[in-house]
Amino acid sequence: MRLAVIPGDGIGPEVVAEGLKVLAAVLPPDVKLETSEYDLGARRWHATGEVLPDAELESLGQHDAILLGAIGDPSVPSGVLERGLLLKLRFAFDHYVNLRPGKLHPNAVGPLAGNPAVDFVVVREGTEGLYAGNGGALRTGTPAEVATEVSVNTAYGVERVIRYAFELAEVRPRRKLTLVHKDNVLVHAGNLWRTTFDAVADEHPGIATDYLHVDAATIFFVTRPERFDVIVTDNLFGDILTDLAAAVTGGIGLAASGNLNPAGTHPSMFEPVHGSAPDIAGTGAADPTATVLSVALLLRHLGHDREAERIEAAVAADLAERDPAAPRGTEQIGDALAARLAG
Ligand code: NAI
Ligand code: MG
Repeated sequence: MRLAVIPGDGIGPEVVAEGLKVLAAVLPPDVKLETSEYDLGARRWHATGEVLPDAELESLGQHDAILLGAIGDPSVPSGVLERGLLLKLRFAFDHYVNLRPGKLHPNAVGPLAGNPAVDFVVVREGTEGLYAGNGGALRTGTPAEVATEVSVNTAYGVERVIRYAFELAEVRPRRKLTLVHKDNVLVHAGNLWRTTFDAVADEHPGIATDYLHVDAATIFFVTRPERFDVIVTDNLFGDILTDLAAAVTGGIGLAASGNLNPAGTHPSMFEPVHGSAPDIAGTGAADPTATVLSVALLLRHLGHDREAERIEAAVAADLAERDPAAPRGTEQIGDALAARLAG
């Protein structure tokens, strides 16, 4: 297994170290793990002015998968690393599925605690929509400034992510798929999403389907989250919905994600949903669980289903035994998870 690792900034390197610890504990002896570390992010940008040089993009592409901690720092102008590194990787490696599971664990704190039926997964489109970088500005800095960001939706891009979502719904027990959009206002993009969704639905008669406007979806994420199984949506709606999903299913410290290239033409990238958390970096307080669960997604993507399930079971057991009165540090949680897997 050739793994590229981008620890990144802030708590990134702290949580990635624990993710790799757990990976080493779970891998069967016949799988040889080779990791290459890449120094990318705020530190690198300050030192050299580089964000993601072409040679490194090319080299990252030679791996089976990428594990990323987090990048970003208040000292770097907004957008430099987000667009130049994260989005560049997603576009260059055609990560058209951004997969974000939301599952409420026993013992979870938060508004939905105690609801055992919360188990959904958001399939967010990753390469188009408002994040495609189609926009510009005129007369910047003057009272007559003009700014545009145009949402890009292609039949090809919409169809492939919707197909992925239906196939995922087919292998989950509840076999349900919800399309989230805003087709009453965003009529052009909305029409493309809806007609494509309906056409692909005809090929999946066993899947129950429904549609929600994104604003209604935010209500149901809080009031009736158990109504969701698989959700498919566009890039921006998915970004916002999944932060909400993380907040209501145990917190940002548990939320994992995969940026998938399902066709396998480039490596997929796995990362916690959270950022570099400069407010707690260096204190050892970051929860590495989101990174560990991202490692489970990585393993499943590479066909190691059994190992992925073992990690998820270890996390569930760890969460069930957590004592809110005695919080543990980053390393302690990683050690506890690795010990469960080794035992
Ligand atoms: P953030 O996710 O870094 O932090 C939000 C809050 O959640 C903070 O209070 C933080 O302490 C807490 N938190 C985050 N991860 C945690 C963990 N594992 N355990 C316990 N608490 C945790 O979001 P924020 O503050 O908006 O962004 C900070 C930097 O991260 C920015 O530069 C932003 O651009 C970047 N960022 C990078 C992402 C990535 O690399 N994919 C994603 C989101 C933000
Ligand atoms: Mg986000």
